Amino acid sequence: MCHAVYQILVWLWMLLCCCGSRVSCLQISNCNKTEVTMIRDMDVLTSLTLSNCSLPHLENAFFMRFGQLLHLELEHSGLSSLDDFSLHGLPRLQSLSLSHNNLTKLRSWSSEPLEALTSLDLSHNRLCSLEDNSFVLYPQLQMLNLASNQIEQLADDTFHGLSHLKHLQLHGNRLMLIDGFQFSGLHRLSSLTLHHNLIKGVDPLAFESNTHLRSLRLEGNLLSSLQFLTQRGLARLVHLNLANNLLQKLEPQGFGNNIELQDLVLSHNNLTELTKESLLGLDSLERLNISHNILSHIEAESLQSVVSLTQIDASFNQIASLSESLFQANSQLEEIILSHNRIEEISPKLMSHQTHLKRLKLDGNALIEANFLQSLPPALNRLSLSVDLSSNLLHSVNLSSLLQFGHINLADNHWNCAWLVKNFLLRAPASLNFARNWSLLSDWNEDLTKVQGIDCIEGSRNRSIVLLSVGEAIHSKVQCAQSYDELNPAPPPLTWPKIPTDRFDSRSVIIWMLVAIAITFACLRWLRRFVDRKEQSKRKLKAINEVYMSKMESQPIRHERERS
Ligand SMILES: *[C@@H]1O[C@H](CO)[C@@H](O)[C@H](O)[C@H]1NC(C)=O
Ligand SMILES: *[C@@H]1O[C@H](CO)[C@@H](O)[C@H](O)[C@H]1NC(C)=O
Ligand SMILES: *[C@@H]1O[C@H](CO)[C@@H](O)[C@H](O)[C@H]1NC(C)=O
Ligand SMILES: *[C@@H]1O[C@H](CO)[C@@H](O)[C@H](O)[C@H]1NC(C)=O
Ligand SMILES: *[C@@H]1O[C@H](CO)[C@@H](O)[C@H](O)[C@H]1NC(C)=O
Ligand SMILES: *[C@@H]1O[C@H](CO)[C@@H](O)[C@H](O)[C@H]1NC(C)=O
Ligand SMILES: *[C@@H]1O[C@H](CO)[C@@H](O)[C@H](O)[C@H]1NC(C)=O
Ligand SMILES: *[C@@H]1O[C@H](CO)[C@@H](O)[C@H](O)[C@H]1NC(C)=O
Repeated sequence: MCHAVYQILVWLWMLLCCCGSRVSCLQISNCNKTEVTMIRDMDVLTSLTLSNCSLPHLENAFFMRFGQLLHLELEHSGLSSLDDFSLHGLPRLQSLSLSHNNLTKLRSWSSEPLEALTSLDLSHNRLCSLEDNSFVLYPQLQMLNLASNQIEQLADDTFHGLSHLKHLQLHGNRLMLIDGFQFSGLHRLSSLTLHHNLIKGVDPLAFESNTHLRSLRLEGNLLSSLQFLTQRGLARLVHLNLANNLLQKLEPQGFGNNIELQDLVLSHNNLTELTKESLLGLDSLERLNISHNILSHIEAESLQSVVSLTQIDASFNQIASLSESLFQANSQLEEIILSHNRIEEISPKLMSHQTHLKRLKLDGNALIEANFLQSLPPALNRLSLSVDLSSNLLHSVNLSSLLQFGHINLADNHWNCAWLVKNFLLRAPASLNFARNWSLLSDWNEDLTKVQGIDCIEGSRNRSIVLLSVGEAIHSKVQCAQSYDELNPAPPPLTWPKIPTDRFDSRSVIIWMLVAIAITFACLRWLRRFVDRKEQSKRKLKAINEVYMSKMESQPIRHERERS
């Protein structure tokens, strides 16, 4: 029953979209071969998508009756073998995708050229090797996706005849060497992805004929040398990604030929230094990412030639000092990222030419003072600048000089408690953030309580100022606490945010007060009565005594009377 409903839904999902008199598309999923052969009106179909079907094998001329097809997708269907001519009879086909299948061998699958095919997607299969002239029957191909296969080697003539190819994707394979002329003849190639392979070396002539290449991705390989960059074919490169390789050194003038390069990513390598010749020739470079290396030495003139630079990311290195003339030639800089280095001091002159700066990240360094912010050029629009100085060693800053900035993050520094209490608690504007977030686990409730706190140091003790927000107003309370270890985020012992006193408490207080008053009154009354009674009995006794006395006094008289 359920299955039948499901089947109906699946067939309903077959979308017949009429975007023109003879354009119709059909999408089917979870089907089998019988169902595909039963499709009607196949002679008007221009787009067919089969996914999640069970089609392990395609016979010769399987799509013969779909003569009008322009787009064919056959994905996630366990396809592992095709007869030699199974794509026969698709003269108008423009795009074909067989991705996410089990193909191990690539063939032409047709006896005559698929003259109209411009896009072929064979990604996510199990192709191991590509033979010579694999694609000669696809002469108009512009996009070829061979990513995420198991290709180890490319024969010299693999891509022979693909003179119109613009985009070639070969990432996620097992290529080890780009050694010969595999890409020769691809005169129109504009983007090539080779990332996440095992490439150790690239021949200095490998891209000699790819003079239109604009984007080359080589990240996640085993490259240790960049000699190949000087070849003529790479002169028009605009984007180059070399992250996650084994580069230890940038050869002098190694980028001398890459005059049009705009994006260069060198992160996650083992680079130790930048010299004045390292980046020579990169006249158009706009974005440089050299983060996650072990850079410790940057020559003062290193960036002199990259005059178009708008963004530099040198975070996660071991830079301890920066020459004050480092950015002298880079007046276009909008973003400087130097986070997580060992910088102790920034010269007031370092950024004296940066009138376009929008973002400055210096978090995770060892800065003791931030006076350089006062000497930024007057022409700079401070309101559009955001500065991150968190996790440094600042103990105080000149607050009045920071008021014009867009946003400044000052969290997690070594603030002097007295200074902080005196200056910050009353005056800090919203654009300055001193606080960092803490998650507190409370005793009385499993929930995490989020509070903001400021760490500070008083004498030799670490303290924390916890910001408790009650409603809209922010009340601050100075409270002693132990230091907080980022790596072992045990909840620091802090005051809890004020719990609103609930009704039970106030009621019980009142009840107890009433009880106390009642008891006091009762005691007083009892005491009074006691005192009264005592007095009464005293008086009675006195009266009795008096009577007795009078009796005693009167008796002798009587006696005397009796005697007389
Ligand atoms: C294909 O699916 C139909 C309906 O779901 C079913 O009747 C038929 O037996 C299936 N054929 C094969 C070969 O599995
Ligand atoms: C394809 O099948 C898988 C599991 O067999 C399922 O998780 C997925 O949702 C299906 N996709 C479509 C589009 O039906
Ligand atoms: C692809 O082939 C492998 C081994 O032959 C098999 O284990 C796997 O299930 C197949 N995948 C599909 C989607 O049929
Ligand atoms: C790169 O640097 C890391 C850490 O410094 C080191 O473990 C690794 O061996 C280096 N790799 C090479 C190829 O030098
Ligand atoms: C630089 O590269 C690192 C690592 O790949 C990345 O995390 C970071 O976002 C990049 N920087 C910029 C500014 O894109
Ligand atoms: C703090 O900054 C203000 C404004 O920039 C400046 O006038 C003042 O001299 C500075 N104070 C100190 C102690 O540097
Ligand atoms: C702290 O938490 C608030 C909201 O929960 C968030 O907006 C803010 O970005 C956090 N601050 C930091 C420094 O993580
Ligand atoms: C204070 O905190 C800093 C950094 O969090 C730590 O290095 C130092 O040992 C702490 N000092 C004390 C007395 O806990």
